[in-house]
Amino acid sequence: MPNRRRPYSPPPERPAAQPATLDAADPRALALKVLQEIRSGEITLDELLTKHSYGLPSRDRNFLRQLLGSTLRHLGEIDAMLDLRYQPPQDRTATRLTSVLRLGVAQLLFMETSDHAAIDSTVSLARNVGLHKYTKLVNAVLRGIQRDGYHLPDGIEAWQLDVPAWLRGVWKKTYGNDTAQAICEASLGQAKLDLTIRDHDQIAFWADKLDGIILPTGTVRLESGQRIRDLPGYGDGAWWVQDASASLPAKLFSAYDGKTIYDLCAAPGGKTMQLASRGASAIAVDKSEGRLKRVFDNLERVRLAAAVVTGDATDLAADAPRADGVLVDAPCSATGTIRRHPDILLRDSDRLMKSLLPIQQKLLQQADKLLNPGGELIYCTCSLQPDEGEHQIKSFLADHPGYARKPITAGELGGWGEAITPDGALRILPTHMADIGGMDGFFCARLVKQG
Ligand SMILES: C[S@@+](CC[C@H](N)C(=O)[O-])C[C@H]1O[C@@H](n2cnc3c(N)ncnc32)[C@H](O)[C@@H]1O
Repeated sequence: MPNRRRPYSPPPERPAAQPATLDAADPRALALKVLQEIRSGEITLDELLTKHSYGLPSRDRNFLRQLLGSTLRHLGEIDAMLDLRYQPPQDRTATRLTSVLRLGVAQLLFMETSDHAAIDSTVSLARNVGLHKYTKLVNAVLRGIQRDGYHLPDGIEAWQLDVPAWLRGVWKKTYGNDTAQAICEASLGQAKLDLTIRDHDQIAFWADKLDGIILPTGTVRLESGQRIRDLPGYGDGAWWVQDASASLPAKLFSAYDGKTIYDLCAAPGGKTMQLASRGASAIAVDKSEGRLKRVFDNLERVRLAAAVVTGDATDLAADAPRADGVLVDAPCSATGTIRRHPDILLRDSDRLMKSLLPIQQKLLQQADKLLNPGGELIYCTCSLQPDEGEHQIKSFLADHPGYARKPITAGELGGWGEAITPDGALRILPTHMADIGGMDGFFCARLVKQG
């Protein structure tokens, strides 16, 4: 059996005598709740974790996150193993029971939980959530998997089960068989913790202090699983968390000092902080008041300033100030970020993408209205689908002959040229920088409005 386990120590088992009601502070019970709610597709894993883990000790919160991450990343494998031993009952308990078993298999096969703790705590969980009559079945199914070990149907690999067929299909069509498989496998891994350092001359200092490495593009990379608020420099606002890929677009304007630059979809503010830290007068626009609160909090913590506008960026007032640069980090299906958001695997991202395409187009048109002649427009998405990246830019250029591409060069990325396309855009794949922990998938193009 391949070693599928992740290095993680679980919290101790709960005492054997459990109350007959759901223990609100039991991370396994909370994981079940999240797994049930996430199926609605209307709320993300991050939102649910924020909602349910409030007040939990950090050890339990970490376990909750790990348990849900392992379950969602390996759901196809877990279900394939359950299929061999378990038929859901024909009653309204079916989805709850299946979710309980999924959490049990995730602990048994993909986490460091001891077999004994994985099985006993799952049986207790079943009992505590009103599945008394199925505790023997839960025990038998998990003991069967423990006995037989990890194995999949002949000729099937894990990534084929874990990544939905439609997404594998799109990636295969776009990137070819081998790259699509590599993208699937990389997307099922866990991302490292990437930091952007506020003061550019302090990157080496903070890399050393935080025991990180410096990527060619300037990001400081740490091992994941650390409590961010406890790290040196957090309270002083010396850095913020931002994936290495996401940090690139805001670095690509040719000038910052004294320049006005819009960040049209700004929350939670990673790119706004970059623009401000480089000396630009940044105008952060976002339509979500709740998410903009995080922009204010982040700006305050890192002691940077920006103008903040709450509202739909496609509907800004006609007299909104004109700018030297516009950054459009458009809402998208986010399929490049599955490593960080494994719930994307459950979503109908294809439908989501289709609903977002017109918004991305409108945002580009708005950027044109805001930009002074000679100004730069940077468009990016964290999607791996060309419809949300390459195709949007191609059609914008076709409709706006006054714009030209300004190719991105390896020199601007610390010499890292692997992701630059022949027409000078960036197409970053989760397989890039694989030997040092990979990248989020991203697309980015830079255009100039002719003077
Ligand atoms: C990809 S996230 C932005 C991440 C952000 N740029 C950063 O680097 O931290 C997309 C954001 O777009 C916002 N958004 C979506 N549609 C919008 C619109 N029409 N106008 C303004 N903001 C919008 C969402 O609220 C969300 O915060």
